[in-house]
Amino acid sequence: MTITFIGHGYVGLVTASVFADLGNKVWVIGHTKEKIENLKKGIIPIYEPGLAEIVERNIKAKRLLFTLDYKEAIPESKIVFIAVGTPPKENGEADLSVVLDVAKKIAKHLGRYTVVVTKSTVPVGTYKKIKTIIEKDKLGTSSFDVASIPEFLREGQAISDTLHPDRIVIGTESQKAQDLLVELHKPIDGNYVLTNIETAEVIKYASNAFLATKISFANAIAYFSELTGADGLSVLKGIGLDKRIGREFLNAGAGYGGSCFPKDVKALIAIAHAYGYDFDLLRDVEKINRNAILNIVSKAKKLLGGNIQNKKIGILGLAFKPDTDDMRDAPSIVIINKLLENKAKIKAYDPVSVKNAKKILRNVEFVNNSYDVAHDSDLLIVLTEWNEFRQLDLQKIKKLMKKPLLLDGRNIYDPKIMEELGFSYMGVGR
Ligand SMILES: NC(=O)c1ccc[n+]([C@@H]2O[C@H](COP(=O)([O-])OP(=O)(O)OC[C@H]3O[C@@H](n4cnc5c(N)ncnc54)[C@H](O)[C@@H]3O)[C@@H](O)[C@H]2O)c1
Repeated sequence: MTITFIGHGYVGLVTASVFADLGNKVWVIGHTKEKIENLKKGIIPIYEPGLAEIVERNIKAKRLLFTLDYKEAIPESKIVFIAVGTPPKENGEADLSVVLDVAKKIAKHLGRYTVVVTKSTVPVGTYKKIKTIIEKDKLGTSSFDVASIPEFLREGQAISDTLHPDRIVIGTESQKAQDLLVELHKPIDGNYVLTNIETAEVIKYASNAFLATKISFANAIAYFSELTGADGLSVLKGIGLDKRIGREFLNAGAGYGGSCFPKDVKALIAIAHAYGYDFDLLRDVEKINRNAILNIVSKAKKLLGGNIQNKKIGILGLAFKPDTDDMRDAPSIVIINKLLENKAKIKAYDPVSVKNAKKILRNVEFVNNSYDVAHDSDLLIVLTEWNEFRQLDLQKIKKLMKKPLLLDGRNIYDPKIMEELGFSYMGVGR
């Protein structure tokens, strides 16, 4: 089948490449000449494990094609996916300007029957806006349907998540569109939820809001446990082993971040408000998350004896989670800026996100490995649980540091072992 993806970010490029790998002819439309020229050569604009190889293979096979020109791709495509960003506006609502702009461009080049699918996360009812735009601007003879197939992939595991999703949600308003979309997804295992478009649109926000709630719940329990002398991590294990609750995503740490949870929680609050429902629960989820992030700064201060000023603080990990270079809304940004406000000197290392971090963080010295971070530091803070931090030579780290103080914002080390090694150690909830 010939299909098109508009947008070549974490969602667009991964899903486009996987569908090309499954044998489809896939066009990817971008809007930046330089990026499209690079993509044609197999140079990808994001870090995602395994993606470069799939892109290269499918470019060679002429199944994956990149263009700036809608005219080249849209007329021959049976399905067009909109996979552009929907960032938050000042008031928390999702900014749909790019989604609606590309809908206009699609309309002008529709050929035969086409299904236009939103893969971007969009507020319930957005499909009606897209439909109105396309109806107004489409060519005389072309026919189309709109649909929603929300994306649930996780950065860092995006390819495997696309090939083996927990579920495939397909929201349509015609049998013809549903049949075509089910046919495209046939080689992918997963439970299908075939439903109407409103339901598909709500499922996406509800999923992310629930996951964010689970993280904030874990952080609240961890905080409370610290006050009582209970071991927060054992409490979370004890809760999570109940199958009705589940162990995954029930971890305490430096708060959630990234390009999805913060913006989607905000957007769902705004969407609910527009429908007359005050989603107080989610406001608390946000508040707890903010406190979990700021709590790292309080703990840093405590470990440093109450004074951050002029202290050299080393940061291990900047990305909002491991295996990605995505710095959008990473907790590290808030924490580092707060430490800088308190006049600390910051040195940082991340295996892949430094290039993106440099665009966001000022007055930070970026170094090339964990040992350079440790060198002459008064305190080390782990903010991303990259695997390479798990088995560092901690004896060497200790020798390099001015003082052996370690704040483990992701609970990757064993407190007992850290104590035996002579570190003053603090985790979250323990
Ligand atoms: N990143 C994730 O883990 C994830 C997971 C599920 C859903 N989503 C949702 O998917 C959508 C895309 O997210 P993402 O992380 O891939 O974003 P991204 O920022 O990585 O990618 C967005 C893409 O849109 C392109 N774009 C921007 N303006 C354009 C225009 N005018 N014309 C054509 N292309 C344009 C950009 O060049 C980029 O390739 C968002 O709605 C997001 O909420 C993201």
